[in-house]
Amino acid sequence: DWTMAEFRDAKIAEIRETVGDGKVICGLSGGVDSAVAAVLVHEAIGEQLTCVFVDHGLMRAGEAEQVVSLFRGSYNIPLVHVNAETLFLNGLSGVTDPELKRKFIGKTFIDVFEDEAKKIGGADFLAQGTLYPDVIESVSFTGGPSVTIKSHHNVGGLPERMNMKLVEPLRELFKDEVRALGRELGLPEVFVGRHPFPGPGLAIRIPGEVSKERCDILRKADAIYLEEIRAAGLYDAIWQAFAVLLPVRTVGVMGDGRTYDHVLALRAVTSTDGMTAEVFPFPGDFLSRVATRIVNEVRGVNRVVYDYTSKPPGTIEWE
Ligand code: XMP
Repeated sequence: DWTMAEFRDAKIAEIRETVGDGKVICGLSGGVDSAVAAVLVHEAIGEQLTCVFVDHGLMRAGEAEQVVSLFRGSYNIPLVHVNAETLFLNGLSGVTDPELKRKFIGKTFIDVFEDEAKKIGGADFLAQGTLYPDVIESVSFTGGPSVTIKSHHNVGGLPERMNMKLVEPLRELFKDEVRALGRELGLPEVFVGRHPFPGPGLAIRIPGEVSKERCDILRKADAIYLEEIRAAGLYDAIWQAFAVLLPVRTVGVMGDGRTYDHVLALRAVTSTDGMTAEVFPFPGDFLSRVATRIVNEVRGVNRVVYDYTSKPPGTIEWE
């Protein structure tokens, strides 16, 4: 696509001009946006860029490994991988309020990121994968009631504190355009086409208290759900699909025995920018197959339900 190739070339020139011979640091979240931003900045200024991946241990199955191998292996981009799972899980223990979870994760993320940035001697610029809807969302309530639906996860405040300027090469783009740019930059299709994933990760897909055990249960169930979605050829027709592990336990029967285990909710929506969303209409036999597999294969779950709420009035994530 010549338009994206032009956009890429123009952005590369712009980044070179802005950055000069300065140092740039980029925080990877594991998602598409920050990865595309990082690869673009790397094309522009190469070695002047260092990427930091703060791994909070709240990723989906295999995701952290994928990011690390993509950057270190395929692109040979210097990457600091910080495994901070224990720090995050310890801090989340006992926290059940959705906003407190988000705030703890956001703050801890910034603290860890700042430590790492200092270790590499700081930087003049912070590169971020901010998209157009992120820019809009932060101003969209002006004039209306001043209500925060969810505090979004970003490194706000850090640039001033560390005296860094921002580089946000994706600010004019929507999600589908970021994907096109990612393809233009040679990122693998399985990575570029991946559903969006929230900064606070699985913590906001586990209403109530988060624990390592609950994360592991959710990762297994979520992987089965997505495996079936891919096998049915439905992955690309869906904006986001994921499982939510509920703190509610219900009674079931398996073999000759009684079970008393967690309820798992499945969510799948279509959308263009995440601001509004429609429920994805799976065929009934598909949902039955997924429910059966999850209850049979994932210890700790004995009931599966499907979330039929559009946005609005529901949000896409449960917290
Ligand atoms: P909601 O749940 O508000 O989500 O309907 C809209 C879109 O935003 C994603 N989301 C986040 N993304 N940091 C992110 O980077 C966050 O804190 C966050 N919270 C929600 C959500 O997955 C959906 O795509």
